[in-house]
Amino acid sequence: MYNPVEIILKKRNGYNLETAEIKAFITGYLDGSIAEYQMSALLMALYFQGMSETEIAALTKSYIESGKSLHFDSALPVADKHSTGGVGDKISLMLAPLAAALGLYVPMISGRGLGHTGGTLDKLEAIPGFRVQYPMQEFQSIVEQHGLAMVGQSSEMVPADKRIYALRDVTATVESPGLITASIMSKKIAEGAKHLVIDLKVGSGAFMPNLKRARELAENLVRTGASFEQKVSVVFSNMNSPLGIAVGNALETIEAIEYLKGKTLSDTKELTEVLVGQMLISAGLCQSQAEAESRIAEVISNGKALEVFRKMIQTQGGDPKVIEDYSLMGTSTLQIPILAQQSGYIHQIDSRAIGYALVKVKAGRMQISDEIDYSAGARLFPKIGDQLASGDLIGYLHANDLKLGEEVAKLISNAYQISPLPKDKESLILEIYTG
Ligand code: URA
Repeated sequence: MYNPVEIILKKRNGYNLETAEIKAFITGYLDGSIAEYQMSALLMALYFQGMSETEIAALTKSYIESGKSLHFDSALPVADKHSTGGVGDKISLMLAPLAAALGLYVPMISGRGLGHTGGTLDKLEAIPGFRVQYPMQEFQSIVEQHGLAMVGQSSEMVPADKRIYALRDVTATVESPGLITASIMSKKIAEGAKHLVIDLKVGSGAFMPNLKRARELAENLVRTGASFEQKVSVVFSNMNSPLGIAVGNALETIEAIEYLKGKTLSDTKELTEVLVGQMLISAGLCQSQAEAESRIAEVISNGKALEVFRKMIQTQGGDPKVIEDYSLMGTSTLQIPILAQQSGYIHQIDSRAIGYALVKVKAGRMQISDEIDYSAGARLFPKIGDQLASGDLIGYLHANDLKLGEEVAKLISNAYQISPLPKDKESLILEIYTG
């Protein structure tokens, strides 16, 4: 029998915890014998003292064992992607059908948007009728049959993370590499993926502010995956500006469909194809990024990737006619121009501020219970390094309330820091780490 106070004390004083101590603490927390304040104290001790490789693996294992896991036939190349969350990040919608069209099996479990970041489930639900909640076995069957399903997390899977993540959110203990690793990896291991690519966002719109912190997290992610026989690669991507053009649920879904139809939209294409490339290389379906890119071009030009997306919409109860008729996802009544306030070069774009501004027109939410307006959002064209004259068009704000819309258009315009000196364009892919 372990004493929770002794476990907290041991970690507080800088000693590593035994695997059995971590397991006992998590089990005790879930059965109610360990109080919220004791779990909070342990989280803070883990935050300040850091976590060893063994502690991270033990916490990951305890999280997985708190619920049920999926097990696919070992012959199937089961692969997934995880993103640490960004603004305008519709990559999952582009990547998952592409990966399935190229022979991977993709059991994708996604989340909802919160605060300044969007969520894949909300983007999918912009499609009328699209269903995201499935019992675990049904989810597995859909993946086995169609190569792909995109769903929300089941309450049966990794329930410990669900509770502890909510507690971390209100105890300022989210930004710990060890805690983040256990949280992400437990979900990705429990869903049965053998290959995982992580899009680790770095920059102003992300919770990893710089590459140094991001590298530390990446090492933990790769090592933890390896101890559960999962091959992990990490792509560090720049989140100093929103990804692609659209920010907002229906608008982002449209941008993803346009890509699958073969319309190139700069940075989203590059990131999607590098991530899919890593998945294919890890699963042994391609030997190089160049080979992956030529196979991707093939399934886009012959329509196969779009057909996989159409089939997924149909299978999950959505209306596939959205592919031809975007208005079925709803259209906002107003499109308010967003204008540059100065002349010069774009030095910085505060993606976080753009994300928060868009919450005001209900393109996102502050609380998980807040309602979303799927048609609301923005289309933003210029990137860091681009030159603008005062009064030039930055983009359009899509909203249904004029007063609020004008306020938000102004806030978005303020998020563009423009100054006279030229500024270099920034690369989107910063580094790839595979251990
Ligand atoms: N995403 C997660 O799922 N967990 C974390 O702790 C951070 C990001």
